[in-house]
Amino acid sequence: MEIVIQNLVKRYDQKLIFNISNLHFKKGKIIGLLGDNGSGKSTLLKMISGMDKEYEGKILYDGYSLKHHMTHRIGMVSQKPYLFKRSVYENIEYPLKIRKVEKGKRKEVVDGFLRDMNLESIQDQRADTLSGGEAQKVALARALSAKPKLLLLDETTANIHEEAICTIEHQLKSYHEQMACTIIFVTHNLLQAERFCDERVWLS
Ligand SMILES: Nc1ncnc2c1ncn2[C@@H]1O[C@H](COP(=O)(O)OP(=O)(O)OP(=O)(O)O)[C@@H](O)[C@H]1O
Ligand SMILES: [Mg+2]
Repeated sequence: MEIVIQNLVKRYDQKLIFNISNLHFKKGKIIGLLGDNGSGKSTLLKMISGMDKEYEGKILYDGYSLKHHMTHRIGMVSQKPYLFKRSVYENIEYPLKIRKVEKGKRKEVVDGFLRDMNLESIQDQRADTLSGGEAQKVALARALSAKPKLLLLDETTANIHEEAICTIEHQLKSYHEQMACTIIFVTHNLLQAERFCDERVWLS
């Protein structure tokens, strides 16, 4: 999915957060979104995801405004991930269940994520008892299991151990290749943005 932003103005109450005249997130690219604390990165992702509709200006998705059916193809992992108060397994399985994927196939997909992200030992644990990094991994697995064409990741690797970051980057790269999806990746880590992203965009 290609995202074009035109004259986008965001305010909270009277306070101007940003005013972006033109910004283009190219289809099929991994784009790093960087900027100071409070520059509006999380706000912009919420706007692109359709969660925040309070703004002036335009966000175009493959040339169109956001339609309800498109939101099913957008995956987002928030800075503070929201998970259901169910098991890790059920959280990752949920998007497959609502898409009526058959039970055996669901198990195959969920088991794959549990294995790849090293979550097997906590698969039966309730998601509201997880550590920050564990919750981010589960939220990422859940987002990927829905097979999004646009993936919005807000500091998804910020609380994750160095080695696990490599595993996640590797997994994201292979998902990106397989789906030819667009990924907007918020990070404060410049080395990671250099290594992992095809392009970088700064919010100021
Ligand atoms: N619901 C809200 N009401 C009022 N102000 C808000 C609200 N949400 C965010 N803000 C303000 O908007 C600005 C942008 O916030 P945002 O969370 O998008 O920044 P960010 O770039 O993601 O920062 P960080 O790098 O710290 O995550 C901040 O000054 C924040 O205090
Ligand atoms: Mg943020």
